[in-house]
Amino acid sequence: MDQINCNNIKILYENEKPMDFEIKKMKSRTVTLIAAASKNNALGYKNELIWNIKEDLKRFKRLTIGHSIIMGRKTFESMPRALPGRKNIVLTRNIDFKAKDALIALDINEALKLTEKDDQPFVIGGGQIYSLFMEIGDRIELTRIHHEFKADTFFPKINLKIWRKVFEKHNSATQEQPLSYSFIRYEKIKKI
Ligand SMILES: NC(=O)c1ccc[n+]([C@@H]2O[C@H](COP(=O)([O-])OP(=O)(O)OC[C@H]3O[C@@H](n4cnc5c(N)ncnc54)[C@H](OP(=O)(O)O)[C@@H]3O)[C@@H](O)[C@H]2O)c1
Repeated sequence: MDQINCNNIKILYENEKPMDFEIKKMKSRTVTLIAAASKNNALGYKNELIWNIKEDLKRFKRLTIGHSIIMGRKTFESMPRALPGRKNIVLTRNIDFKAKDALIALDINEALKLTEKDDQPFVIGGGQIYSLFMEIGDRIELTRIHHEFKADTFFPKINLKIWRKVFEKHNSATQEQPLSYSFIRYEKIKKI
């Protein structure tokens, strides 16, 4: 089916779903997944974060401030409130879900549409939402904690045939912060 709609210059080619079109239309920007994961890819346990690394929280704020942030309903509910200075977008399949100071998106396409004026939207978790966005994400800002933790939510495996490490900064354990961790940036080198 070829569909041409001249009013909004929308052209859909054979086998192209509307969602593919929305993603292509916005390809001049960078969709970044930002996460902190342990050596065993742990992200969270019982709907809470596992560690508290001040420098990581500062970095998270510095990178995301002023931008759109997309998160899953469970992550939103794990936070005391919407994050200030950012456009909070919550993904849920529940049409009745209400979130104070946040916008609701019922699918990935709706979430992306809400970020279309932002050239660097962020996906901030949790596990389900990272997995959902691995295919269309362009960059991963990962804080890798060099320890193993018990968890019930995990970051998806990073396939090094698809992602290339372009930056890494190691932070050794200190008396104040007994966990060692690295800030790592991956860029997508190949479409999935
Ligand atoms: N370490 C980190 O960097 C980090 C970052 C963020 C979160 N976390 C942790 O991760 C855990 C939460 O992650 P999680 O995987 O359990 O949940 P989540 O990804 O935060 O949210 C899952 C929810 O998102 C909605 N959802 C999922 N796929 C969807 C889709 N295709 N369309 C529309 N809605 C969709 C569903 O909401 P409904 O059920 O309402 O339909 C689903 O229950 C917590 O422990 C949190 O502390 C860690």
